[in-house]
Amino acid sequence: MADSQRKILVTSALPYANGSIHLGHLLEHIQTDIWTRFQRLRGHQCYSVCADDAHGTPVMLKARELGISPEQMVEQTRQEHHQDLRDFFVDYDNYYITHSPENRELSELIYKRLDDAGYISKRVISQLYDPQKEMFLPDRFIKGTCPSCGAEDQNGDSCDVCSATYSPTEVINPRSVVSGATPVLKDSEHYFFDLPQFEEMLKGWLRSGAIQEEMANKLQEWFAEGLQQWDISRDAPYFGFEIPGAPGKFFYVWVDAPVGYMASFKNYCDTHNLDFDEYWKADSEAELYHFIGKDITYFHCLFWPAMLEGAGFRKPTGVNVHGFVTVNGAKMSKSKGTFIKGRTYLDHLNPEYLRYYFASKLSDGVMDIDLNFDDFISKVNSDLVGKVVNIASRCAGFINKKFDGTLSLNVAEPKLVTEFQQAAEGIAQAFEKRQYNRAIREIMALADKANQYIDTQAPWVTIKDENKQQHTHDVCSLGINLFRILMVYLKPVLPELAQKSEAFLNDELNWNSSQHLLTNHKISPFKALMQRVDSDKVNAMIEASKENLQATTDSQPADREPAAESPLTSDPIGETISFDDFAKIDLRIARIAKAEHVEGADKLLKLQLDLGGETRQVFAGIKSAYDPASLEGKLTVMVANLAPRKMRFGLSEGMVLAAGPGGKDLWIMEPHEGAQPGMRVK
Ligand code: MSP
Ligand code: ZN
Repeated sequence: MADSQRKILVTSALPYANGSIHLGHLLEHIQTDIWTRFQRLRGHQCYSVCADDAHGTPVMLKARELGISPEQMVEQTRQEHHQDLRDFFVDYDNYYITHSPENRELSELIYKRLDDAGYISKRVISQLYDPQKEMFLPDRFIKGTCPSCGAEDQNGDSCDVCSATYSPTEVINPRSVVSGATPVLKDSEHYFFDLPQFEEMLKGWLRSGAIQEEMANKLQEWFAEGLQQWDISRDAPYFGFEIPGAPGKFFYVWVDAPVGYMASFKNYCDTHNLDFDEYWKADSEAELYHFIGKDITYFHCLFWPAMLEGAGFRKPTGVNVHGFVTVNGAKMSKSKGTFIKGRTYLDHLNPEYLRYYFASKLSDGVMDIDLNFDDFISKVNSDLVGKVVNIASRCAGFINKKFDGTLSLNVAEPKLVTEFQQAAEGIAQAFEKRQYNRAIREIMALADKANQYIDTQAPWVTIKDENKQQHTHDVCSLGINLFRILMVYLKPVLPELAQKSEAFLNDELNWNSSQHLLTNHKISPFKALMQRVDSDKVNAMIEASKENLQATTDSQPADREPAAESPLTSDPIGETISFDDFAKIDLRIARIAKAEHVEGADKLLKLQLDLGGETRQVFAGIKSAYDPASLEGKLTVMVANLAPRKMRFGLSEGMVLAAGPGGKDLWIMEPHEGAQPGMRVK
């Protein structure tokens, strides 16, 4: 172990519970996970927690849209997120939810302490209100004409055309995104947290090295603009925690979200016999690190430390800020298929490719990180498959076939071993400082040296020479040992490859394993450890991401004029067909036995159609118009002899008939009463 055992708690930002995990989130979780695994590999006590961020207006509205309770929705999303992350080998000790009893209790406690200390005040403010939906509107739920340049359809707080920022009350012809109604101004009492009181403390904390210099400079600008009172309350209807003693007032989601870090850890401590206070008391000696994206620095570096300080808890040791993921040089885009969900990636590619690629690019800076797919393919193929795994595959066969699967007593080139072992400290420092790109560079330089050495020794030649058997054995045993040391260094990045390598080496790897060799040691038969990236799979993933979008845009009700003209004008009657042509189509009455949402599909409902003896599964693009529950038990008409089609979500064995332009305007067929499932429509 490098130092005496450290106690560390690590967190990643809590993903909102109203969308899927995408490659941007994954950059963060992978960065956190590599650091956590590195600390554990070094023998430190390092816990990592995360959770879903359950509260706020967008979550509430999304649940309404789906017709389920917010509690139900966020729990479903939490499970989905957790599974996505686990499938990328992101290993949290606890993945919880902010809508939890622990979080309510801790949020109330912190609020009470802040209130008792005089940091909370009340004041009436006037805000835009949707009179139809009877709710106050967050800025992003207002659209209208930019007061600065006159561009239409701009956000409530900023203009995409001229980049002006303004207050939502300045927007010309504002409308509510929720209902389309014109918002009105309405008064309401709000609760405020006295952030300016903490200015000196925050400046000191920032000087303590808690945050990267470039972010600290950014924060200086915020100080220069002057800290403001922070509005911490929202009015009902809101999905969140009600403020104690303030009926109808809720904590703003950003109040209880970071407290969610504590709550997730509390939940873990309670079931694992760990002392929560040791990590969170004001004079805690444990280390606390938050990994976050640059967009939420303000919350983590101003509000959060101030809340902790004001309520008598410890402050973070460090807030590690990273930049944003771009794909092929541009912002992730739904139309280009580069807005890629974690699940879509997993459907096509090995998660360790992405872990490796991100590691090779991540530093301790906050610049954006570009995922370029050509670079991705060539890096993974040349570094992981072509260099690292290659060392083992070149040497293992000879050991297994010629030397009884046993490594020799001596290795061939002790100097090379020393070089590999001495690199441990530099690589460890790079991981510790989150300069993963540097660590990877050093590891790959070693891999090059190992391959060069094997090239010069050419064991595939010497193996044929009876007099060189011992030397060949020593060379191949060295190769396997060098591979082993590289896998120690790569273990935080590539946990699955490391696990397979451990099985092959018959040896468990921790950081100190790098400092001794395996000699006279039996290894297992070598199996392929990793496949090359197939560019077809990358393309298929991009295509599948476009499909996702197609479904999303199609389901948006189009902004159309009322239908004044007949549908025949835009869609005239088709070519005449013979009766025989028509008779080929086998139309049947079917009962909708079951209708349900499809995870990940924006447009489809999954129907089980009962044909009176047979059941067919059909995916129908009618989600925008129908609540699944309302369909169950109803009769409809289906094309029963349509060739089954394999869709991303499963097999579709037929088609239901519907009319209408799309969006909400879609009507499926229903026979008159008396028709029975299975009857032919002719
Ligand atoms: N719920 C808040 C965080 C609360 S933490 C107490 C939130 N959620 S989020 O889902 O929008 O983002 C979660 C994290 O993912 C943030 O750190 C954010 O910066 C990061 N990213 C989201 N999109 C990203 C990229 N395209 N690239 C890199 N990180 C990105 O904010
Ligand atoms: Zn503008």
